[in-house]
Amino acid sequence: MPSKIELCNASDVEVGAVLKVERDDLALAVFNVDGEFFVTDDHCTHGPGSLSEGFVDGDVVECNFHGGQFNIKTGAVVGPPCMVPIRTYPTVVEDGKVFIEL
Ligand code: FES
Repeated sequence: MPSKIELCNASDVEVGAVLKVERDDLALAVFNVDGEFFVTDDHCTHGPGSLSEGFVDGDVVECNFHGGQFNIKTGAVVGPPCMVPIRTYPTVVEDGKVFIEL
């Protein structure tokens, strides 16, 4: 049975924006892509970059450190120098709040 973790209010993250949320041992980035919410790890897989401080363009986030890019929806690398996909989390919105399922 997966557990649900509440992260934030959906209204906390505008379309095209990203919010860093820390819960338990997780540092997460909550993205709003055209009204749909996606959650990834906040830490870039390439180094010390924080994806919540990166640049969002549609469904791609560019790390602010070396410019590596990930697909926000799948976690796939779409731009070097990153090689390892970013972890993504099943995300649901209920009663105006964003949750991940672990
Ligand atoms: S730390 Fe993110 S691209 Fe290098």
